Parts: sequence; structure tokens; C-alpha cells
Amino acid sequence: MKVVAFNGSARKDGNTAIIVNYVLRELEKEGIETELVQFAGKKIHGCIACRKCFENKDRRCAVKNDILNDCIEKMLDSDGLILASPTYFADLTTELKALIDRAGYVAIANDGMFKRKVGAAVVVARRGGTIHTFDSINHFFLISQMIIPGSRYWNIAFGREKGEVEKDEEGIQIMKVLGENMAWLLKRIHA
Ligand SMILES: Cc1cc2nc3c(=O)[nH]c(=O)nc-3n(C[C@H](O)[C@H](O)[C@H](O)COP(=O)(O)O)c2cc1C
Repeated sequence: MKVVAFNGSARKDGNTAIIVNYVLRELEKEGIETELVQFAGKKIHGCIACRKCFENKDRRCAVKNDILNDCIEKMLDSDGLILASPTYFADLTTELKALIDRAGYVAIANDGMFKRKVGAAVVVARRGGTIHTFDSINHFFLISQMIIPGSRYWNIAFGREKGEVEKDEEGIQIMKVLGENMAWLLKRIHA
């Protein structure tokens, strides 16, 4: 089994990457393969509403000049997805939204190609807007007919400068429990 995590931050190896790695380590302890894809420095555009995905029905976006189709391939090859984002103006980053809009539209055009995969949101912020970011990501999982595991609190951690999130002990615990619950759910779905 495999889980792929996408980090929508513009900052490579920042707080979002640090905290999502706590989830991935728990999954690995349970024998689940993981991969972290960081968007920082990579090109990913928003949906241009060409609707070619509904004509082509080839499980790919018709716009092929950025990393989006590589991301779709990784999503299709995985049993679980983690979408992680820092909070930017009380919402997810533009890059992660681009993934959601385009992969989400391609999925709808292809009879729900992420149906019954397991999905979890991971959110970081300095102080405010986390629940809104968390909800934005979960809307994608729910309309994609995916299954969402919970943790002991919403999957949120706090920090501003790179590495500050390591001081958020409760945030770290939440991510560990999320990893355990995600592994538990994946194992039962694939039993
Ligand atoms: C453009 C921008 C907007 C931000 N907006 C918010 C915000 O609305 N609320 C908040 O608490 N922090 C906000 N932050 C702070 C980041 O969420 C915080 O620094 C986070 O740790 C960054 O994660 P990273 O290290 O993975 O990039 C913002 C940062 C940037 C660059």
C-alpha cells in the first residue's frame, strides 16, 4: 500500500513538510510506503476550464506544460492521499488549489477516479484561518467520494519561522494519531 503526500507550501522543507513527515513516519511503521511531493519551486497552474477532460476521458489533464499530470499519476498509484498546506490568508495555497481544481475535475470527468481512496488534510499556520483551510481541502475529498480518517483534534499545527512547528507538541501528537488512524483504515479497506 502507498500514501502520497503533497505539500502546497512555497517554502521547501518548512513547517508543513516537517509536520506531514510525522504522519508519514507512522504510516511507514505500519509497512505503508510513502512519498512526499513538495510544490516549492515547481510549476503548477490553475484550471483553464477548457473541459477537454470531459471529451478525452483519459484520466489526464489536457494541459501538459506543468507537473499536474505527474501528480495525477502518483494519486492514481496510491491508496491514500495527504494534501498539506500552510495557511495563506485563511485558506490553502494557490498551488494546492490548482491541484485540487484540475485533478478534481479530471476525476469527475472519469467516473470518480479517486473513489474510496483514503484522504487526509494537514494544515499549518502562524495563528489564524486553519479551520477554513482544513475545510477547503476536505471538500475535495468528499466530492471525490473518498474516505476521511480523523485524529484526536483537527489536523492542525502552529509555527511561523521554518522549524517552529517542532515546538507544537499537541500538533505533533495529532499528526501521529492521524498516521495511526490512516494506517488502520487503509489496512481494513484492503484486508
Ligand atoms: C502569503 C502568506 C500568507 C499567510 N497567511 C497566513 C494566515 O492567514 N494565517 C496564519 O496564521 N498564517 C499565515 N501565514 C503564515 C504561514 O502559514 C506560516 O508561516 C507557516 O508556518 C508556513 O508554512 P511553511 O513553512 O510550510 O511554508 C502566511 C504566510 C504567507 C507567506
